[in-house]
Amino acid sequence: MYGLVNKAIQDMVCKYHGEDTWETIKRKAELEDIDFFIGMDSYADDVTYRLVEAACEVLNTPAHEILKAFGEYWVNYTAEEGYGELLASAGTSLPQFIENLDNLHARVGLSFSELCPPSFECEHQNDHSMKLHYQSNRKGLAPMVIGLLHGLGKRFHTNVDVIQTNFREQGDPHDIFSIKYSDSQSNDQ
Ligand code: HEM
Repeated sequence: MYGLVNKAIQDMVCKYHGEDTWETIKRKAELEDIDFFIGMDSYADDVTYRLVEAACEVLNTPAHEILKAFGEYWVNYTAEEGYGELLASAGTSLPQFIENLDNLHARVGLSFSELCPPSFECEHQNDHSMKLHYQSNRKGLAPMVIGLLHGLGKRFHTNVDVIQTNFREQGDPHDIFSIKYSDSQSNDQ
């Protein structure tokens, strides 16, 4: 994955656990030869998976929790790292933004030519719920999607309730999430 992702993991770990913990994680992942990640360079996916695995061991936290926290972190991180306008152009409400996720990644792909983005498809059920189909060439990242959706909920001041209903790792064709959302200013569901 692009270095931007690894940089964001580093940023999150340093912010919440400090530089020393980051160095320990990097060493455990056998990445001590990398002084810093370059956002626009493409790295093997294995680098990112090793960082997550090492973070699990060092922080004594399961992978799904780390990935969920990372997904939530990513929304603010990209907004602050020069992708604010891109995020703003993808929509002004949670459902509109989710509908535009593939367009957003297509635009990201204009600058990141080796991008291998996920694909999302919405099945709207009513004004407050949808099924979200997530397809990826990569494995194990569904918890990150849950975190991303919560991060987007915060961005749009929207309460979000996400349940995963279909699991690729259990033999389903792809991951599906059931999402319920409502304006956090109102109480209607
Ligand atoms: C402007 C904001 C964003 C940028 C710049 C961005 C960029 C990227 C990049 C560079 C990757 C790594 C893929 C690769 O290197 O091949 C990625 C992966 C991913 N992105 Fe985005 N992204 C953004 C917002 C979002 C949002 C809001 C979501 C919400 C669902 C999302 C969902 C994902 C997921 C789930 C992956 C993991 C890869 C996979 O599933 O195969 N991204 N994105």
